[in-house]
Amino acid sequence: MNIIEFENKDQLGKEAAALIARTIASKPDAVLGLATGGTPIDTYKELIQLHQAKEKELSFKQTRTVNLDEYAGLHPDHKNSYMTYMKRHLFDHIDLPQDQYFLPNGAASNLEEECLRYDQLIQNVGGIDLQLLGIGQNGHIGFNEPGTSFDSKTHVVQLDENTRQANARYFSSIDEVPTHAITMGIASILSSKKILLLASGKSKAKVIQYLEQTEIHPDFPASALKLHQDVTIFIDREAGSLR
Ligand code: F6R
Repeated sequence: MNIIEFENKDQLGKEAAALIARTIASKPDAVLGLATGGTPIDTYKELIQLHQAKEKELSFKQTRTVNLDEYAGLHPDHKNSYMTYMKRHLFDHIDLPQDQYFLPNGAASNLEEECLRYDQLIQNVGGIDLQLLGIGQNGHIGFNEPGTSFDSKTHVVQLDENTRQANARYFSSIDEVPTHAITMGIASILSSKKILLLASGKSKAKVIQYLEQTEIHPDFPASALKLHQDVTIFIDREAGSLR
């Protein structure tokens, strides 16, 4: 794991977007694995700016994207779905064709079948070239909560109470936060060619400190990243303050 620390979260967002832009420049039809949450918003803003800049050097016309996760029980058009998040923060502002971005469908009538369909879809697009990740305070990646098997592929999960509480800020009340989600598994994430994990702010300082020091163990899902050959971690000074 190669950890790189930046001055602040703006700088982190710029550098993460630059890395993604370089990936697309060297392989225009790259498959990007994308994440939601607070952390990547600056990165998406910067990607939009790079795309909208006069020179229009960054185009997503040939790119395909697959998201890590989606809430179970929310229709893709629901205001709190991750599909809506992705449209609001990225897809609606770039030239990525509508049939080239994918998220698990949390409203599918059979969620187990939906998981299999999603794994197949990832295979059909040729696997993930660059997977963007955030990290939960309990070490979750995607919605792979502590205890998740490192062999897991896309699956349905029950969300930890901590995770539901952390995400309640986007809902009117905690009761509205779904109890389940579909997430790519640890094995799905590890099969990406390259992984870029982002962490910013004081609230991530402990988890980054722990990630660096811990042994590889399913109780701390992000430790699985130590099994991968090409993981880059971008943190800001606050997230690095306990190292
Ligand atoms: C989001 C995801 C989650 C988040 C994590 C951190 O698609 O898979 O693992 O990356 O919960 O969330 P933030 O960035 O809001 O701190």
